[in-house]
Amino acid sequence: MKRFEKHIFICENRRPEGHPRGCCAEKNSTEIKELLKKRIKELGLNTSVRANTAGCLDACEHGVTIVIYPEQIWYGKITIDDVEEIIQQHIINNSPVERLKITDEKFNRH
Ligand code: FES
Repeated sequence: MKRFEKHIFICENRRPEGHPRGCCAEKNSTEIKELLKKRIKELGLNTSVRANTAGCLDACEHGVTIVIYPEQIWYGKITIDDVEEIIQQHIINNSPVERLKITDEKFNRH
């Protein structure tokens, strides 16, 4: 039996102010993680879906960065306003949110 159906990792890495790569923490990743956790619980998904803090996912330029397994879907430039769409569309309906995806092309440009 699988422990969780989906696992969401949210980068909460923090770098010193002014660092050239920036960081996800300065873009409110902790609030995003907390809202993800809250909604997962409210919707009764907490036995099958887990949201966890991650360190730097090495996609800093795309932050706030999250990755969802087992699909290995990467999302970038996530804001608090995107959380519900990710929950409803990706987590519940199993349909990735195309507009938020970090594509291979975007990865190669950073
Ligand atoms: S600081 Fe978030 S991906 Fe590097």
